[in-house]
Amino acid sequence: MAVVKCAIELGIPDALERHEAPMTLSELSSTLECSPPALYRIMRFLVHRQVFKEDRTNQGSIRYVQTPLSRLLMKNGEKSMAPLVLLESHPVMLATWQALRASVLANKNSSAFETAHGEDVWSFAATNPGYSKLINDAMACDARVSVQAVIDGCPNLLDGLDSLVDVGGGNGTTIRLFVKACPWIRGINFDLPHVVSEAPDFVGVENVGGDMFSSVPKADAVFLKVSIFKLQKNHPI
Ligand SMILES: C[S@@+](CC[C@H](N)C(=O)[O-])C[C@H]1O[C@@H](n2cnc3c(N)ncnc32)[C@H](O)[C@@H]1O
Repeated sequence: MAVVKCAIELGIPDALERHEAPMTLSELSSTLECSPPALYRIMRFLVHRQVFKEDRTNQGSIRYVQTPLSRLLMKNGEKSMAPLVLLESHPVMLATWQALRASVLANKNSSAFETAHGEDVWSFAATNPGYSKLINDAMACDARVSVQAVIDGCPNLLDGLDSLVDVGGGNGTTIRLFVKACPWIRGINFDLPHVVSEAPDFVGVENVGGDMFSSVPKADAVFLKVSIFKLQKNHPI
């Protein structure tokens, strides 16, 4: 994960995409302004793990080739999964996993995140806007792939509905995809106030802040997509 994070941060997939052709080590290292031997070791690992491919110039020099997998690691690609890797490899998350044993031994039903940081992830995010953005971007990149697959695979899913609320909808990516596919739907993106305050405006979507354990806005149907986190004490997902 550290090497993949490094490749994303250096912008290796983005550089190969811009170049529109395989790049030699010297082309890539001069584009990225980094040391060729250090970059060679990074690329050797990523080629071995089949993230990138290698071919040879007529003179026998190695050239690095973009693949469908490395395209997923571009910073701004439509289907980029880079934000998910950057979230999982962030120091806040790495500190969480160092606390896993302590959280098990503590026997308090508190998560490793709470053991490491003294509060649950959503309270932490409320006071750390940079980390909150990282979470929202990571959830959004997952939604762009998985929710689009749901829409493509079940085109009649929302037939007969006038309104849909996405509970825990993050920055609204999911509800925007639904409203785009079914423009007659009135979409509500419901999440914690500090999250919806950063959600972009979109015609047909209302952003509503609140606590889902108190109440959720009324709509014909509720959409709830969760991934890796425990939402609140005593409500393990
Ligand atoms: C794991 S993320 C899932 C985001 C999105 N549904 C997705 O899968 O792409 C969980 C979301 O629930 C939100 N959330 C956590 N506790 C909440 C609460 N008590 N009320 C409303 N939203 C909450 C978080 O802010 C976060 O956006």
